[in-house]
Amino acid sequence: MTEHNGPALAPDEQAAQAFLRAAKLYWSGPMYRALRRQFVARGLDAAEPDQAERAMRGEPGYAFFCWLEHHLQREKYAGPRGLVHIAERQRAALLARLEEAAGDSMSSGLLELDPQLELPGWYVRTDYHQHPGGVWSDELAGFVYELGRRTTLPAQLDPYAVHQRFAAAVPDGDRRRILDLGCGTGRSQLPFALRWPEAELYGIDLSAPCLRLAHLNARELGVRAWWAQRRCEATGYPDAHFDLLHSTFLLHELPRRSVEALVREAWRLLRPGGHFVHLDFHSPPGGSWGAFIHYGHARRNNELFMRSFCETDFAGLQRAAGFEDIDMQLFDDGTGLPGPDGISESWRFPFQLFIARKPA
Ligand SMILES: C[S@@+](CC[C@H](N)C(=O)[O-])C[C@H]1O[C@@H](n2cnc3c(N)ncnc32)[C@H](O)[C@@H]1O
Repeated sequence: MTEHNGPALAPDEQAAQAFLRAAKLYWSGPMYRALRRQFVARGLDAAEPDQAERAMRGEPGYAFFCWLEHHLQREKYAGPRGLVHIAERQRAALLARLEEAAGDSMSSGLLELDPQLELPGWYVRTDYHQHPGGVWSDELAGFVYELGRRTTLPAQLDPYAVHQRFAAAVPDGDRRRILDLGCGTGRSQLPFALRWPEAELYGIDLSAPCLRLAHLNARELGVRAWWAQRRCEATGYPDAHFDLLHSTFLLHELPRRSVEALVREAWRLLRPGGHFVHLDFHSPPGGSWGAFIHYGHARRNNELFMRSFCETDFAGLQRAAGFEDIDMQLFDDGTGLPGPDGISESWRFPFQLFIARKPA
């Protein structure tokens, strides 16, 4: 699943982004391991994450780790050779591609945008993962998001391999209609088209710029899918309309009340026997260390609800709604699972695969 539509990088921009990737690899490898040694030396393995945070705050090594984590990401997006600048330089050509692809898709319903949709305050006020203006406010935001994905997991050269692994891990079943919740630019939905080529595919998101790019991406790949600007908490689709609901990297972006509403909405949307599956971040392995690193990342990278999602009993919410066969498994993102003590050699997100089923 390659990128055909991304903005081109000039040589100096390529060099700057390659430098940032190399610096992030240094941060996520040797710096992370040095920090781990300091943490152990200070006897913090049994501490609560907030207590560990207070204890580590005075360590120069930790201050530098935090500073780099925040500023490498900031530079990647907002720096003079950052992703926003790269897209901006090509604004007219990129918009023309979106326009051309949109063609008559709005009138045929393949692309449904709703300028009246009220975006939640938490969504518009937060520049998630430091994307300036978020993924919704600029017409080119979808392109910028996709460029950003190239280095979200710096050890991975194919940013979409994780979506293929996720689609492959979803239980077998008769899938006639599949909905991707928070589909972004569609990359998380496209592998489902390969796995269930006969299924009707739907993707919803709050972001019009992302949906327009999702539509362009699908067209380029010859995939027929419906993309709509709708809220995952109240989608407006009929009862029992879908056989499979899935999301990738959505749940940690939602406030608790939205996660609760989503679980209720999923119950309504699924036909009996249908599955509700997600790839997201939860239950950081590695005890105090894992939580200290993950909650710190949330603060430093504007991930407003990342910790709140970890503190949510997602299985309990699903059970209360009536779901069965509820499971959460550590997921190998392609860089390998952490060791038996839950601690990875290099920094990684606490990827989890969530599976639940509406009883048949
Ligand atoms: C981190 S992105 C993931 C996009 C895509 N699933 C992927 O893996 O590339 C999260 C997406 O969820 C969308 N989103 C956040 N809150 C939402 C909501 N309440 N309803 C629908 N989409 C939402 C955001 O606009 C964003 O595109």
